[in-house]
Amino acid sequence: MTFAVKPIATGRLPQLLSQMPKAELHIHIEGSLEPELIFALAERNRMEIAYRTVEELRAAYAFTDLQSFLDIYYAGASVLIQAQDFYDMAMAYFARAAADHVVHAELFFDPQTHTARGISMETVIDGLHRACVDAQKRYGISALLIMCFLRHLSEQEAFETLEQAMPWRDRITGIGLDSGEVGNPPEKFAKVFARCRELGFRLVAHAGEEGPPAYVWTALDVLKVERIDHGVQSVKDRLLMERLARDQIALTVCPLSNLKLCVFPDLASHNLGKLLDAGIAATVNSDDPAYFGGYMNDNFLQTFAAIGLDTEQAYRLARNSFEASFIDDAARRRHLDHLQGCFDAFASPA
Ligand code: HPA
Ligand code: ZN
Repeated sequence: MTFAVKPIATGRLPQLLSQMPKAELHIHIEGSLEPELIFALAERNRMEIAYRTVEELRAAYAFTDLQSFLDIYYAGASVLIQAQDFYDMAMAYFARAAADHVVHAELFFDPQTHTARGISMETVIDGLHRACVDAQKRYGISALLIMCFLRHLSEQEAFETLEQAMPWRDRITGIGLDSGEVGNPPEKFAKVFARCRELGFRLVAHAGEEGPPAYVWTALDVLKVERIDHGVQSVKDRLLMERLARDQIALTVCPLSNLKLCVFPDLASHNLGKLLDAGIAATVNSDDPAYFGGYMNDNFLQTFAAIGLDTEQAYRLARNSFEASFIDDAARRRHLDHLQGCFDAFASPA
């Protein structure tokens, strides 16, 4: 692949990573709930929580795998009661995203985590949608919503969730699949994803985070998703790597998440560089930033430092984020032009 911009001094790489415009395509909005906000919302909603202090709660964020995280993540989300709570959570995320030069964000949300507690779909979508509208006004960030089905629950329950969301169909761009992966393969949701496709939703799914390459294959061939969330296990399957590269299927990679959930022993062992070298359209994302110790720029800065990526790879990652996003072509063109302008401005004088 040719480098579209002029050489940039490597000393300027951290500043470039921080300031380049980027899209975030893999953020669970409930995973942006910081301990301070959990305590504030618990107080506002007059709820008891199992930890006495913010520090005590944060100290519990020592995960060994995906499930050990999910247990705490679902417990944290239980303080979300009113539409205003969902709004405040999302606006706090947008403030962090704006500081990291995120100009477009696609937010996952998990309605079943809330409807199971008696919170209505309307409450959830009302708060999140209002925040997306205000993100544009306050920060100039475009944002859209991707509703995820919890894969540890049944396909029937996913169908019921879809039905409950239909009155707000126009506020939901895409459908995703998250929660505990191993033992819950994509094909478990074949019928509901087929229905979502008929309804015109954009489709994504978590696959190959902890689960095998076979799950990435079935996410693509059975669910017919357009992007794979995580997908880092794909390197174990040469044919799959060729498929991802040939069809330019984007992977929404989340390096700090992978580190905290012990998918890799350390960041230096992360395979983001291998994915890019194989010609795969990888992107960088934060997943659950309040739990994994970093937002977008933390992910970029720490990963680049640990595995030694360069300015060309920075450009490709940012470019991929816009190419793989669900924005319209005019907005995509505008963002790509700004990206180019940013790299040109950073280039060394000739
Ligand atoms: N994987 C699966 N489910 C999730 C995640 C994740 O990283 N974060 C929130 N729900
Ligand atoms: Zn995720």
